[in-house]
Amino acid sequence: MNQPDYEFLRKLLRDKSGLDLSADKQYLIESRLLPLARKAGLASISDLVQKLKDGSSALISQVVEAMTTNETFFFRDKVPFDHFRDVIMPELLKARANRKSIRIWCAACSTGQEPYSLAMSLKEMSAALAGWRVEIVATDLSQEVLEKSKAGLYSQFEVQRGLPIQLLVKYFKQAGELWQINSDVRGMVQHRQLNLLHDFSQLGTFDIVFCRNVLIYFDQETKINIFGRLAKLMEPDGFLVLGAAETVVGLTDVFKPLADRRGLYRPSGVVSTAKAPLPGAPRVAAAGN
Ligand SMILES: C[S@@+](CC[C@H](N)C(=O)[O-])C[C@H]1O[C@@H](n2cnc3c(N)ncnc32)[C@H](O)[C@@H]1O
Repeated sequence: MNQPDYEFLRKLLRDKSGLDLSADKQYLIESRLLPLARKAGLASISDLVQKLKDGSSALISQVVEAMTTNETFFFRDKVPFDHFRDVIMPELLKARANRKSIRIWCAACSTGQEPYSLAMSLKEMSAALAGWRVEIVATDLSQEVLEKSKAGLYSQFEVQRGLPIQLLVKYFKQAGELWQINSDVRGMVQHRQLNLLHDFSQLGTFDIVFCRNVLIYFDQETKINIFGRLAKLMEPDGFLVLGAAETVVGLTDVFKPLADRRGLYRPSGVVSTAKAPLPGAPRVAAAGN
């Protein structure tokens, strides 16, 4: 692939999904986009770039989706789900005792293992939650992963990754060679397509946000902007859960880490001036977190 084509794709991916590729990821682009180019009847990455320059929006979405990393599994990293059960929910059960409602956002849900891990955790606490309304909103940029999440169908391999056998038996049914999560657990999760680069204030206010293993792909400026906007839609006593390799420390003071609870953050009360970049517009400047 020639350098101008690589730079074109790098910029396109940064603008459309936030993906921040270093200068030496040509092999990654080739391995993910050549099959897509061939499927579209194009012989090379150069032909694909030409077609993208002609402005085919369907092809742009396919390129963006092909470059996303959708790796996920049930109860990934375990600790955040222990925190959910032992720290977050007990505290919110007290704090929301009058209103009896909790809203959770899973902000890059991939194929659903993360929101369904939360839904099963809630099912396991159903005695304490009798009479409560708990909403889980699961969003992702990729329509393809959302369709899989909605279907709640997983292979033997996928249910063997992180899911305790008792929960498999309790909450899944076999569907041919696959396993399907029961409809009552599926019904606890609402799915929506959403790009974190765009405005998400319309989702409403959340008590808990799981935003894990997605910001890691973005540059600092984009992370700061997203943290600023996340803080604005969270309850002041809400909880933000990040992935094991992600942190706000050194980037922004709109969230503060919880001592001794790795990956867990709360809004600090510092207000951000961050705004969503408009689709396709030049990205927001670093200042104003
Ligand atoms: C590695 S998966 C993480 C899934 C899950 N949160 C976990 O930790 O297991 C990253 C997900 O982020 C999504 N993603 C990438 N860029 C995004 C963006 N700009 N807005 C929303 N989702 C995005 C991808 O489609 C992918 O499903």
